[in-house]
Amino acid sequence: MRFLSYVLIFLLFFAGNATFAANKYSIIPQPQSLIPQEGKFSLNTETKIVVTFADSRILQLAKDFAAQMKLVSGLRMEFVQSATKNAIIFKEDKTLAGEAYSLVVSPENITLKASTSNGVFYALQTIYQLMPAQVYGKKLMKQEWSVPGVSITDAPRFAYRGLHLDVSRHFFPISFVKKYIDAMAIHKLNKFHWHLTDDQGWRLEIKKYPLLTKVGSRRVESLVGLYAENYPKRYDDDAHGGYYTQDEAREIVRYAQERYITVIPEIEMPGHSSAAIASYPFLSCERKPIKVAKDWGVMKDVFCPRDSTFQFLENVLDEVMDIFPSEYIHIGGDECPKDRWRVCPDCQARIKAENLKGESGLQSYFIHRIEKYVNSKGRKIIGWDEILDGGLAPNATVMSWRGVNGGIAAAKAGHQVIMTPSAYCYFDHYQADPSTEPITIGGYLPLKNVYTYEPIPAELTPEEGKFILGAQGNVWAEYQKTTTDVEYMTFPRVAALAEVVWTNTNSKNWDRFRTSLGEQFLRYKQLGITPSKVFFDVSSRIESASEQQLKVVLETDNPDCEIRYTTDGSLPDKNSKLYDKAVVLTESSTIKALAYKANQPLGKMFSKNFIVSKVTGCEYIQNPVNTWYRGQSTYALTDGEVGNAKSYGQWVAIRSVDGELIFDLKKQETITRLMVGLLNAPALNGYYPPLVTVSVSDDGVAYEQVSSENINSNRTMGTWSVYRPELVFPPVHARFVKLTLKNAGPGSNPDEEGGQSQIMMDEIGIW
Ligand code: ACM
Ligand code: ZN
Repeated sequence: MRFLSYVLIFLLFFAGNATFAANKYSIIPQPQSLIPQEGKFSLNTETKIVVTFADSRILQLAKDFAAQMKLVSGLRMEFVQSATKNAIIFKEDKTLAGEAYSLVVSPENITLKASTSNGVFYALQTIYQLMPAQVYGKKLMKQEWSVPGVSITDAPRFAYRGLHLDVSRHFFPISFVKKYIDAMAIHKLNKFHWHLTDDQGWRLEIKKYPLLTKVGSRRVESLVGLYAENYPKRYDDDAHGGYYTQDEAREIVRYAQERYITVIPEIEMPGHSSAAIASYPFLSCERKPIKVAKDWGVMKDVFCPRDSTFQFLENVLDEVMDIFPSEYIHIGGDECPKDRWRVCPDCQARIKAENLKGESGLQSYFIHRIEKYVNSKGRKIIGWDEILDGGLAPNATVMSWRGVNGGIAAAKAGHQVIMTPSAYCYFDHYQADPSTEPITIGGYLPLKNVYTYEPIPAELTPEEGKFILGAQGNVWAEYQKTTTDVEYMTFPRVAALAEVVWTNTNSKNWDRFRTSLGEQFLRYKQLGITPSKVFFDVSSRIESASEQQLKVVLETDNPDCEIRYTTDGSLPDKNSKLYDKAVVLTESSTIKALAYKANQPLGKMFSKNFIVSKVTGCEYIQNPVNTWYRGQSTYALTDGEVGNAKSYGQWVAIRSVDGELIFDLKKQETITRLMVGLLNAPALNGYYPPLVTVSVSDDGVAYEQVSSENINSNRTMGTWSVYRPELVFPPVHARFVKLTLKNAGPGSNPDEEGGQSQIMMDEIGIW
């Protein structure tokens, strides 16, 4: 009896709670205004749909919605002329802007209003996200189907909300391109930038030039490993190819249109054109046959600005503009080396005849001339920010990728701008500690950094800021061989981008966003998308570094978990120490950590070595300083963190000469050991120094050598390796410590800094 009444109280408590529980909302991107309402609208066999618009596209959207709901819920919702209760009502509201909508969900009805089908489309995306993630599925789910009460008014912050896909470096099938477009739509993105041509493959059928796909869409093999990982370079001996027929491209245009997405094709010129030149050598300065590129990077053979090249490009663009109705055609314009142009008689004659300012004037001439042609067909060009060099074409829109300066300059000059700065928008960069990630081209762009991006640079006045059309995520595919790889890099970072481009600054909130993201992962699962799960992993950050003390913050993006950790090398479990504040390390240690929810581990095991010594956090004198490889701070060599052999960021280098590092311990200390982390990277001409010595001094003037080590640096071929020699010596009392490192002499890779070798270090400890 007693037991039963407990059960009864328990049930009453939870039933009561369910009735009055606050509704939860996990909409990404967050709407501009969302006012929670009590109660919910339950879909049932009597629910009707009312569409009061005359627009056939809107009727189609309503039908698509009804069909999807029938698929997952089994409910067949009848379309009626009018209804006052238990209805989903589509209403026209001419006061709303093109992509805007309002949505009111009450226990009686769902009413959505918009002025166009675009607005209706976005309202429906929001309705889907108010329902359980299974609404995105393809299976009938026996569960309650309801929409929580809410009042939403919404409109995008930016008109240009882009996502890019490089299909040249690796080819992806039409089925995947459609999946990608579907995913864009649920994030309310509206511009698909399709990077169709590059050095490694031409991917679009051009009827007038069949060799572009016959020859230009195939390469015999591809580079293996990180760009500078192997010397000599290694290749996979695996032919790669593929292209889209014009019919397939038109199919993508139509498919995207149905999802309110414009396809912007990119045809690269004058650089990144090896695949076209391999097909038609007359396009290059030397007119010599070349191969479709199998390396990544920037190639020297580029289009020669002869009339015959322009004729070719105009013919290609004619077909491109026939396939793609987009107002904007992207013509590339980035990374065009001028080596060939400098020595090409035709190029030099053009510079003279047109009175151009050298080769950068010629680049500008090239883009101007193409712009004129594209404009004559009623279209506009977009180009990467290099199109600013030598003078911007009069009507061009600039895509700012080498940082934000190109975008700022273009907006100040009254040109439209799309922001894609690599530090915030390059989804081919690492999204977590490179040592735990599949290899990428480099860089570091965690989810939170994407989220915090503000597309309108502070340097612009409000008037100039209006030239920023929006922003775009770029998905370059050198290291993304499969569609799963692309998904891993794109999701969930694209969710963060969605809020950057859709949500007003005052409605953006990292904590709300990351709380909603758990639901977004469930949606991805329903859509068959394989996102990166680093959201659930533990990462670390150094809070402070000082002599013999390191404070290490452990964190996860996922707010719904707790972190358990060890510092003794043992594997953490659910009973390990609960993380609550920065871990204080007073000696070199390995932190291992795992995130848990309800005693279940969530992500990957975190494991990282930290070095703590007398010089932790200490600034030092480095002779000479290399501005390219200097680590991430002024104390990169004593920040407690080691580098890794998958990215260059943490390495500090001394190029072409012997190096020395001087540490001031600030007072006399007894020391007996020095450790230095060294990288052997033959492709970078980075070699272990053949000799390292340690000297000490009381006054910083007179030094006495206490230890040395000869290192076999005769490793001029192969892949990267790391060595951390420890130089041990009898205890000495000293204030200054000097480490000298001998340069290994000329390197064997002549393409790397003219063959100059370098000493590469990541961390130094002194005890
Ligand atoms: C680019 O990333 N080269 C535009
Ligand atoms: Zn030339």
